[in-house]
Amino acid sequence: MNKLQKEVERRRTFAIISHPDAGKTTLTEKLLLFGGAIHLAGAVKAKKSTRGATSDWMAVERERGISVTSSVMKFDYNGHEINLLDTPGHQDFSEDTYRVLTAVDSVLMVIDSAKGVEMQTRKLMEVCRMRNTPIMTFINKLDRDGQEPIELLDDIETNLGIECAPLTWPVGMGKGFKGVYDLRGDELRFFVPDGQKSTRPTDVVHVKGLDDPQLDELLGRDAADLRQDAELLAGAGHPFDLERYLAAKQTPVFFGSAINNFGVQELLDTFVELAPPPQPREAETAKGTRLVSPLEPDFSGVVFKIQANMDPAHRDRIAFLRIVSGQFQKGMRVRHHRIGKDMQIANATIFMAHDRSGVEEAWPGDIIGVHNHGTIKIGDTFSIKEPLKFTGIPSFAPEHFRRVRLRDPMRAKQLEKGLLQLCEEGAVQVFRPLRTNDYLLGAVGPLQFEITMARLKDEYNVEAGYEPVDISGTRWIVGGRDAKKFIAENGRDIATDIDGDMVYLVSNPWRLERLLETYDDIVLQTIKEHK
Ligand code: G4P
Repeated sequence: MNKLQKEVERRRTFAIISHPDAGKTTLTEKLLLFGGAIHLAGAVKAKKSTRGATSDWMAVERERGISVTSSVMKFDYNGHEINLLDTPGHQDFSEDTYRVLTAVDSVLMVIDSAKGVEMQTRKLMEVCRMRNTPIMTFINKLDRDGQEPIELLDDIETNLGIECAPLTWPVGMGKGFKGVYDLRGDELRFFVPDGQKSTRPTDVVHVKGLDDPQLDELLGRDAADLRQDAELLAGAGHPFDLERYLAAKQTPVFFGSAINNFGVQELLDTFVELAPPPQPREAETAKGTRLVSPLEPDFSGVVFKIQANMDPAHRDRIAFLRIVSGQFQKGMRVRHHRIGKDMQIANATIFMAHDRSGVEEAWPGDIIGVHNHGTIKIGDTFSIKEPLKFTGIPSFAPEHFRRVRLRDPMRAKQLEKGLLQLCEEGAVQVFRPLRTNDYLLGAVGPLQFEITMARLKDEYNVEAGYEPVDISGTRWIVGGRDAKKFIAENGRDIATDIDGDMVYLVSNPWRLERLLETYDDIVLQTIKEHK
């Protein structure tokens, strides 16, 4: 095995998805503790509330106690290099989360055992399904009374449309939570509150299967419940199947309590064993589309996120680039295909759990940060020789809209510059109606507007305000024989987006339906790939 193969094999790049409050931050923290990346419980939480205390838009984040920005945490565990991509928990920033999900090879889903599948989980799952991203599930908070485990599995199967294959099974819950039974290894793991402090050998007992009478001694009456559940599972459940997991048709399920660090190590051990290493990715080339394998020696990578002002000491923008193939070396010259220029990546950054540090080398699956002086957009591809354009980074049709009103007309140029840059970063979407000079902003979540205004003022010195507009959605006009006619006859409701693509502004869904009957050969879409 050559060095590239080895480095690819040992990498795991993933994100945690959950509905807010299910325990994503807590689980992240425990994973980082195992990886030795942090030494103190509470460090991630503290970071959540204090990081980046300089600019106004970060102040918005602070005031509201939400994490707007997502970052990358790298740590190693048992010889594996793990890249954990954090995602904003607040649903208003879900667009950012969607893009992060295009840069991972698998996902860990956290579900609150009392609440089951929640709205945000459902949305995120849809995004995972677009790329068939394998998902491992952690059902959290078993130390509290929640729904019956069988019901939870049923909830996931019905609402998320994915088979569940439990690898552990809980014994009791809430005050009566005794621990979990490892269905693959026939081990009983006893719940110890705050397991971070204790890993006594007696906490794990190996038994000879579920019929072992030792279970009755250890669990008392709970043993019978465990056997009954296991019988139900044998009849109606799904045995674990690696291929089905990797094909995103089945999710292995673990039960535990993140805050007590219980069930987390098994999850992590299984994750590094089963989760996929960096995967090939589809790219457009001069000769059509092809899959680029991580094992190709030539470096290539794709930008999935741009972030401004991450660090008060560097007031800059960072483009997050996921390496798809080959080795990255410091000072490397790469081709920026969209603008057709070579550039040297001299000062790439790698993200450790706490700091950024300079990168000497990096491999497929790693995320590097490249300083961006306004030339890099989301979706941009960098490679060495072959002109490539990685596909699959989506823009979603916004659901909220505002018209921008500039207070000082002398600042029109700055407004345009600021809006275009913020749009390229994916902070907000900008539309220009064909018939007016307005700037229409579209967002997936309304908080994006607040951030945009704060950043316009802070970074571009532009004072502007918003006006409401009567628009409830957009559709990209992507083709069909009637497209030209449709655009010509409905110009009042048509705008262009940042790439110059035509967009229909939906003010009334009924009207849209009627139009679709009139112009029956037209293709409208709510998702578009970044160009
Ligand atoms: P999030 O990132 O998904 O939004 O969730 P986060 O980890 O912040 O956890 C949400 C709340 O759930 C926190 O409580 C956290 O302590 C609690 N929690 C996480 N894991 C468990 C668990 O295994 N059992 C129980 N009982 N609670 C858990 P909080 O009161 O909102 O915050 P804090 O004041 O405790 O930090």
